[in-house]
Amino acid sequence: MEIIIKQDYEQICEEAIKIIHQAWKKKNNLVLGLPTGKTPLGVYRRLIELNKKEEIDFSQVITFSLDEYLGLEENHPQSFAYYMEKNLFQHININKENIYRLSGNPENIDEHCKAYEEKINSFGGIDLQILGIGRNGHIGFNEPSSSLSSRTRVKTLTLETIEANSRLFQDEKEVPRFCLTLGIGTIMEAKMIVLLALGKNKGEAIFKCVEGPITASVPASILQLHPQAKIIIDQEAASLLSRKDYYQWVYKNKERVDDFIAKKK
Ligand code: GLP
Repeated sequence: MEIIIKQDYEQICEEAIKIIHQAWKKKNNLVLGLPTGKTPLGVYRRLIELNKKEEIDFSQVITFSLDEYLGLEENHPQSFAYYMEKNLFQHININKENIYRLSGNPENIDEHCKAYEEKINSFGGIDLQILGIGRNGHIGFNEPSSSLSSRTRVKTLTLETIEANSRLFQDEKEVPRFCLTLGIGTIMEAKMIVLLALGKNKGEAIFKCVEGPITASVPASILQLHPQAKIIIDQEAASLLSRKDYYQWVYKNKERVDDFIAKKK
C-alpha cells in the first residue's frame, strides 16, 4: 500500500489526477472504475478542465460505475447514474456506449450483475479503480461483513450509511435501503486502486483500513492485499495513523528510489 498524505483537498485531487493522466497516457482506452460521493467531485472537475484543454481525450476511455441505489431510475436526481452524468460525463468527450453502469431497476438482478462482471472482463478488467470510503470502512456499497471475495450483487445498506447519505434526500425515509455494488473480489481484480479520503470523520476508517487487521468488518482493509493500492488522504484523515511519519518519508524519497531502480536496470 502506498499512503500519500497531502495538505489539502486540492493536493489530493492533483495527485489523483496525476495518476489518472499517467494511466491514460500509457493506455488511451483506459478502463476506469468510478465512484460517487462528495470526495471525488474535485477530481471530476479537474478531469473536465483537462479534457477542455485537450490534455486528456476520453473518446476511447471506458467507464464502469461502482454502485447504484436499487429502486431509483437513471433520471432520479439522487441516482448515481444522474450524479455521474451531471458531474462528469455530460462535460467530457466520452462515447456514451463506453459508459457502463449498474441499473437501479434491472429486470433480473442476478443476470444484470453477472452481465456487468462479464462486461468488465470483456475489456480485460478494470485498469484503474477510484474509490472513496464510508465512515464504517465500506468501499462501493460493500458494507461491513461483506464477503471479502464477493462479486457484484445486492446489498442492504447499514443504518449509518443511510443516515450519512440522507443529506442529499429530502427525508431519510426516501434513502433506498438496497443497492447494487461491485463486489470486493471484483474491486480487488482492478490492476490499480486509488482510494481518496479527507476529513476527521474518515480518520478511524482510514486507520483501520491501513493499520488494522484485514477483516470483513472493515471492507477497505482488504486493500492491504492489493499490490497496487494507493491511499491518498489529507492530514485529518491521516491523524490516527501511527506510522504517518514513515509514510511521509517514503513519499518524499519516492523519486530517489525510482531513479535508483531505473539505474540498476
Ligand atoms: C457512498 C458510496 C461510496 C463512497 C462513500 C463516501 O456510500 N457508495 O462509494 O465512497 O459513500 O462518500 P463521500 O465521498 O461523500 O464521503
